[in-house]
Amino acid sequence: MFTKTILLPIMGLALFCGLGGAPTFLVPIINPPFADNSPHLPTLLSMAMTEKKKLNARYERIYTQLENLLQNTGNLISRMATVAALLHHKMPHFFWTGFYLLDKGELIVGPYQGPLACQVLGKNSGVCWAGILRHSTIVVPDVHEFPGHISCDNRSNSEIVIPLLGKNDQPWAVLDVDSQKRDAFSEIDKQWLEKIVRLIPPQE
Ligand code: SME
Repeated sequence: MFTKTILLPIMGLALFCGLGGAPTFLVPIINPPFADNSPHLPTLLSMAMTEKKKLNARYERIYTQLENLLQNTGNLISRMATVAALLHHKMPHFFWTGFYLLDKGELIVGPYQGPLACQVLGKNSGVCWAGILRHSTIVVPDVHEFPGHISCDNRSNSEIVIPLLGKNDQPWAVLDVDSQKRDAFSEIDKQWLEKIVRLIPPQE
């Protein structure tokens, strides 16, 4: 009885699996599918690593190119324009790229690439002024949540502002980059953009 009802079916199944591989009804148990067919964690991590490496490599190439290009002239406006143009056209996540310069206590737009920008930024408000007042880089993952953010184009969703420090360590301008993507700027962007603005000679 035991042989007939239990042992024989088990032996049959074992033989069946051995000859033809696991029967289809057992496959989901042996190798469960992901609920939504999305890539699993190790794949996502390795994709993120590749993206980081690509971004670093791109910044490295831009930096070398700028080092050479900025030797062609000592003119400040020309140098700023070159930095803005190269960054803007090489970085897919940059939507607006440019400089604001302190002039008689106001922040006035300088060389830039992208849609039309505000020409004058109201004093002590917004991300650019925060960079000036704090003397440090400001990364804003969601501009809509930044108190006092000045919106020059409502397609911008995240922003990074790097102050340019003068000989006396006082800020005299900022590099401002906006993105249409939320949370577009990482530590990699921060480190490289800080290094890139140091290619522009400090002003008083
Ligand atoms: N969003 C900036 C204003 C400049 S634009 O982004 C080009 C700010 O809040 O200071």
